[in-house]
Amino acid sequence: MLIKSAEFTISSARVEQCPAGNLPEFAFIGRSNVGKSSLINMLTGRAGLAKTSSTPGKTVLINHFLVKTSPLPGYGYARRGMKQRDELQRMITNYIMRREQMMNLFLLIDSRHEPQRIDMEFIEWLGENGIPFSIVFTKADKLSKSKLAANVRHYLNELSEQWEELPPHFITSSETRQGKEELLDYIDSIMQE
Ligand code: GTP
Ligand code: MG
Repeated sequence: MLIKSAEFTISSARVEQCPAGNLPEFAFIGRSNVGKSSLINMLTGRAGLAKTSSTPGKTVLINHFLVKTSPLPGYGYARRGMKQRDELQRMITNYIMRREQMMNLFLLIDSRHEPQRIDMEFIEWLGENGIPFSIVFTKADKLSKSKLAANVRHYLNELSEQWEELPPHFITSSETRQGKEELLDYIDSIMQE
């Protein structure tokens, strides 16, 4: 799949404010600093499209880009206040449950880390609600090949304790562009359905 153009459309605090129309939409969600913005830039081939930062918790809005992707803010950022965290939670839940044009949600997981409870609970919730999703392991360049393979295997093993059939997964690096073609092909195949 070739991306001909990619542009920022709008930031929304609530699903009601998200762009109207029925273009197919793909959402990117994951813990703060997991690499959502970097992945969107890598996939679209536009370096500055989504703002990246080494300071966690930059994204607190639903950002729409006109290419067929839609990132969501990092959840579970510990230093956010309780009230703000609840609001973020509600925004994410509302978006996922109500956004009919959302074709698939990509849950980003830092490939360096052990499975985290907040991600596992989120995956369980996605399953219970029948939300179509896939897992994207990020920052693959930060690990050796063998450690990366071991971490991914470990993660999928944990998941298979809950799931009979595992969701699709991708291994990516925004640095080396690993996984770019696979992800774009996957998005393309969903749109062909
Ligand atoms: P928030 O919007 O704050 O939730 O963060 P985010 O999920 O959008 O993460 P972002 O893309 O801003 O990346 C966070 C940091 O990780 C930045 O310093 C990126 O340069 C770095 N990073 C992201 N992806 C990769 C990757 O694949 N490899 C390496 N080495 N660094 C990465
Ligand atoms: Mg971001």
